[in-house]
Amino acid sequence: MSKPKLTLGIETSCDETAAAVIEDGLKIRSNVIASQIDFHQRFGGVVPEIASRKHIEAVFPVIDQALSEANTTLEEIDLIAVTYGPGLVGALLVGVAAAKALAFALNKPLVGVNHIEGHIYANFLAEPNLKPPFICLTVSGGHTDLLYIPKFGEYEILGRTRDDAAGEAFDKIARVLGLPYPGGPQIDRLAKGGNPQAIDFPRGLAVEDTFDFSFSGLKTAALNYINQMRQKNQEIHLSDFAASYQWAIIDVLSDKVIRAAKSKNVKQVILSGGVASNSQLRAHVEALAKPLGISVLYPPLILCTDNAAMIGSAGYFKYLAGQQAGWDLNADPNLRLNN
Ligand code: KG4
Ligand code: ZN
Repeated sequence: MSKPKLTLGIETSCDETAAAVIEDGLKIRSNVIASQIDFHQRFGGVVPEIASRKHIEAVFPVIDQALSEANTTLEEIDLIAVTYGPGLVGALLVGVAAAKALAFALNKPLVGVNHIEGHIYANFLAEPNLKPPFICLTVSGGHTDLLYIPKFGEYEILGRTRDDAAGEAFDKIARVLGLPYPGGPQIDRLAKGGNPQAIDFPRGLAVEDTFDFSFSGLKTAALNYINQMRQKNQEIHLSDFAASYQWAIIDVLSDKVIRAAKSKNVKQVILSGGVASNSQLRAHVEALAKPLGISVLYPPLILCTDNAAMIGSAGYFKYLAGQQAGWDLNADPNLRLNN
């Protein structure tokens, strides 16, 4: 088997239609992301039916744009990689159907990629010399997973959220405050001018001997605070609220990721997923890691949130490891790592 030169990555698991061309698994030739945020914003979150329809409209124009920005053509593509789960089933199906149609028509190999594995590979695009073992915290709108990765392609799940994902915790409270979707970047921005000690929010599962997370207690406390202030006709100090709420999330995430590194005796931690864009998470994990001689890596912002470059890269390495998909590849909304 010769190594594929150009991989076309396709990603449609949530509200971004994305396509990218990757050279030799690690070099980004193009990375096109068509966001649907404007269509979902007035509903305060992603509407699955709208997402599927918008993906259908956008998927081929986005692929065409990715090919043209990479200065290549479909005929020159050697491998097609597509996200097949986890995510919204209707949204995933659009990408999977498009990838299968192209691979069949062009007679090119096809690889199905787990979206979370894609987020992890965003770090290899940022740092091609990165090698396991490492601890990875994947935090996005749908996932909060703490993983130990002893070897390429091997994932030990140390902990995960028992209720909301970290991104969901940001987005839901931001919505109650009337901030636009997605709320994570808004809270991050507001928090910069606030006092993280202003409101004493609870830390879910912080003292317990587990790597699992829980954000529902924090969310309830924040809702109660907002309701009480509104009942008393008192204005909420948005920056202090954002800083305190964000700190309650980041404090627990950072503490557990460092504890995981210590327990597995590894000196490398990586952050991935949309919430890895959070400025306080990046800074705090680095501050805790430094005195312990642990290095911290996270992708540039454009590779933290959903994109197809990470899917192309993960797909390339899966293909080299001998994993090719058949024509029966299907969307799996609940796909797990290690499948
Ligand atoms: O990875 P992603 O684009 O999509 C999923 O796979 O879910 O992550 C999106 C999530 C949203 O919940 C968004 O609010 C959150 O990432 N996010 C942030 C920040 N930027 C994006 N959360 C906190 N701080 C940020 N700066
Ligand atoms: Zn994602």
